[in-house]
Amino acid sequence: MKLFIDTANLTEIREAASWGILDGCTTNPSLIAREGRDFAEAIWEICEIVQGPVSAEVVAQDAEGMLREAALLKQIHEHVVIKIPMCHEGLKATRALADEGTPVNVTLIFSVNQALLAAKAGAAYVSPFVGRIDDTGNDGMGVLADIINVFDHYYFDTEVLAASIRHTAHMLDAQRLGSHVATLPFKVLKQMVHHPLTDKGNAAFLADWATVPGDGLESTVSAFLQRPRG
Ligand code: E4P
Repeated sequence: MKLFIDTANLTEIREAASWGILDGCTTNPSLIAREGRDFAEAIWEICEIVQGPVSAEVVAQDAEGMLREAALLKQIHEHVVIKIPMCHEGLKATRALADEGTPVNVTLIFSVNQALLAAKAGAAYVSPFVGRIDDTGNDGMGVLADIINVFDHYYFDTEVLAASIRHTAHMLDAQRLGSHVATLPFKVLKQMVHHPLTDKGNAAFLADWATVPGDGLESTVSAFLQRPRG
């Protein structure tokens, strides 16, 4: 599963990238607005840190406008993926961009039918918003599962990108379903690292280690390496 971070915050992106687990990043106009920075500069910096696909969203509502914006966004960095909202004009723009080899992430997907149309228009990714579907009292993971099954059934190359992930249980379900990608907030990424038994186990190891003779691991091992052996 590819892991994308769902933020435009450079500190969070840098930290996640330093863990060696980050494959890409998704942004949207709300995430960009939250940072209060120059949009193009922020996207460039994110691309430089991530060195993988970074979704940057168009805001035009007509296909011609979306294509003009996409042409500019692509020039910011080679890693930019054009994010286009699901709608008639978005499908037109997706098809035109796919035909010229530009990867598109079709966003704001809330149904299997929308995902099918985006895939047929040539999207590289479709982003079902799992958490927002749950918010409406419906089954976000059910929609994600159905999309994955349908894409498998028809051999679409389009990758399913689980979006609007709210907690670690969402992540577990997305993995079990075989979602190709998940984009998650930094908070959830951090929560995935932790387990109470890991913390407890590590504390016990350190307490036991404190009773081992010697001046610590580095000096003990260094001293050993300098001594003749055998
Ligand atoms: C996906 O690309 C979106 O940016 C994101 O996952 C939306 O998540 P939200 O519903 O938490 O805003």
